[in-house]
Amino acid sequence: MKALVLAGGFGTRLRPLSCTRPKMLFPLANEVMLDWTLKNLASSGVDTVVLAVNYMAEALVRYFGPTKFDLGIIYSREDRPLGTGGPIKKAAELLVDGEPFLVLNGDVISDIDYGQLIEHHKRKGGLATIALIRVPDPSRYGAVELDGDDKVLRFVEKPELGTAPSNLINAGIYVLEKEVLDYIPDGKVSTEKEVFPLLAKEGKLYGHEVRGLWVDIGVPDAYLEANHLVLEKLNGSAVGEGCVVDETATVLEPSSLGNGVLIGAHSVIGPDTSISDHVQIGQGCRIERSIIFPGVTIGDYSSIRNAIIGENASIERWVKVESGSLIGDYATISDGVTITQGVSICPSKTVTESILEPGQVM
Ligand code: GTP
Repeated sequence: MKALVLAGGFGTRLRPLSCTRPKMLFPLANEVMLDWTLKNLASSGVDTVVLAVNYMAEALVRYFGPTKFDLGIIYSREDRPLGTGGPIKKAAELLVDGEPFLVLNGDVISDIDYGQLIEHHKRKGGLATIALIRVPDPSRYGAVELDGDDKVLRFVEKPELGTAPSNLINAGIYVLEKEVLDYIPDGKVSTEKEVFPLLAKEGKLYGHEVRGLWVDIGVPDAYLEANHLVLEKLNGSAVGEGCVVDETATVLEPSSLGNGVLIGAHSVIGPDTSISDHVQIGQGCRIERSIIFPGVTIGDYSSIRNAIIGENASIERWVKVESGSLIGDYATISDGVTITQGVSICPSKTVTESILEPGQVM
């Protein structure tokens, strides 16, 4: 069976981290985000993955190569953005082999059972089946209305609280028959807005509620939440090779330390924190519910909460990085600086004075 993974988006809502790498290569519990999905696909009987790439395609090709986790990996390269539907049409020849195929948004992290989804699709006999996930509040998403036979009746985009036809939302994971390609025009197309409503109108679209871990990594908070959920699933504190954690330091579960991480005296790390390879943390630091990319240095007595620190950034001493802030690769945050909530610091920027106005981009 084949799967197409949409991996070509710009990831604008995760800038500045996505300025220097595609979102699919962001670390999650110390593994590359898309590796989680590839492993799940490999264990579900998929043999070939077509990666639909556009933005920073070379970085993806270099990292994944021609095969990984026993999956063959083929690249479908786009020379302009094609949205979520255009890439399916463009990769048609690579996908069609007499069987239905899977399509996944590459920025969705999930451990759903693809085998069960495919079985449900075959049983219902539609042209397409959407994996549906139940959420407490569908008003941020689009709610899906099904009939008693799981046929999709309609989509309601961002329904106001209390008006949604169900709490089921599109999980960004589909099974498609080759006939669906006839519903996708050439060029930039949104599957969700242009293709699925048409299929639903003709009664050829089904939904299947799936259970398990599911997060759409679109915005920083969702990325931190995905990190939390994956760490929780791993249940404990993973420690890589060559880590040196001072005996007076504490690592609170669930957390993950990569290889060669150094943690100084009396520092408290975690819970829900991923520290990538070769990060150096001084003494008396506090890092909680955060993701630290590789090669970062964090000076003594600094604190980081609900934040993401890009590769090789330098957080000096007595620095405070608050909720929702993103520090770009190679940025330097000087001694004593406070970065308040929701601030983004561009790659390689040096910040010498506190930023106390939330939401600024520097
Ligand atoms: P934002 O810019 O922050 O909205 O992120 P994004 O570019 O990832 O867009 P969005 O979250 O809507 O994308 C959903 C999925 O489709 C992600 O896995 C993207 O990588 C992918 N995607 C979006 N646009 C394209 C495209 O033009 N080509 C390909 N191949 N994938 C795309």
